[in-house]
This record gives sequence, structure tokens and C-alpha cells, in this order.
Amino acid sequence: MEAARAAASRAYAPYSNFHVGAAILTGGGHIYAGSNVENASYGLSICAERSAATAMASADPEDREIELVSVYSPNTAPCFPCGACRQVLREFGCKEVVVYDGQRIQRYPFEQILPNSFGPEDL
Ligand code: THU
Repeated sequence: MEAARAAASRAYAPYSNFHVGAAILTGGGHIYAGSNVENASYGLSICAERSAATAMASADPEDREIELVSVYSPNTAPCFPCGACRQVLREFGCKEVVVYDGQRIQRYPFEQILPNSFGPEDL
């Protein structure tokens, strides 16, 4: 969550002013963080969770299992991943979603966040 909080401070969100940071812990024990990066063509904006996931996926092909993702936003608490990001996290086997409600850390099994999901094993 500290890595997510730090990433949120680096968000590029001039249009929404909604700052988000995410941090992924991999099976190999590495942490990859990302923030939301918006665009003047609004639809091209990318969420913090997908920034973190793309950083992870392009860093080390041998370490692409997501143990957990933590999400932090100073604008709202808790901040949960959007539907698109849930599916991208699912791709890499995310097991747990961690959010901060303003007072304490809350942990959710991924199956609760995206039940009956479709993934690589289904193809
Ligand atoms: N956003 C994220 O980065 N992650 C979330 O979990 C929710 C929304 C971003 C997208 C956009 O840049 C801004 O927050 C407002 O929707």
C-alpha cells in the first residue's frame, strides 16, 4: 500500500484530478507500481492498475504471476479497480485485491472481486 500511495503522488490526471496509484506484488516478490495517466483524448487514459500490470508484464517474462494488487487514491477511500482493470489483473492470476478505507487495510479474495471470470485457461 505504501508503494501504491507513492505512485498516486505521481499520477498524471489533469482532466479528472482523480489521482490513483496501484502496486502489484508478484510471485517472485517484486513490486511494480503505476499511476493513472490521462490523455487529452479522454478515452486513451489508462488506469493505475493497468499501468502497474503493463510495467510488470513487460519487465520479466518469468515473473508474471500477480499475488496481489493494492490500490490507493487520496480522492476516495476505498478505491476499487474498475471492471476493465479487473479483467486485466485476472489475466495474470491475481489472487487478492487490497484497498485502504481511510483507516485500515481491507483485503478481498480476487474471486469476490471478479466472480466466475474468464481467463487464459478457458481458451
Ligand atoms: N482510475 C484509476 O486509475 N483506477 C481506478 O481504480 C478508478 C479510476 C482513474 C481513471 C481516470 O484517470 C480517473 O481515475 C477518473 O476516473
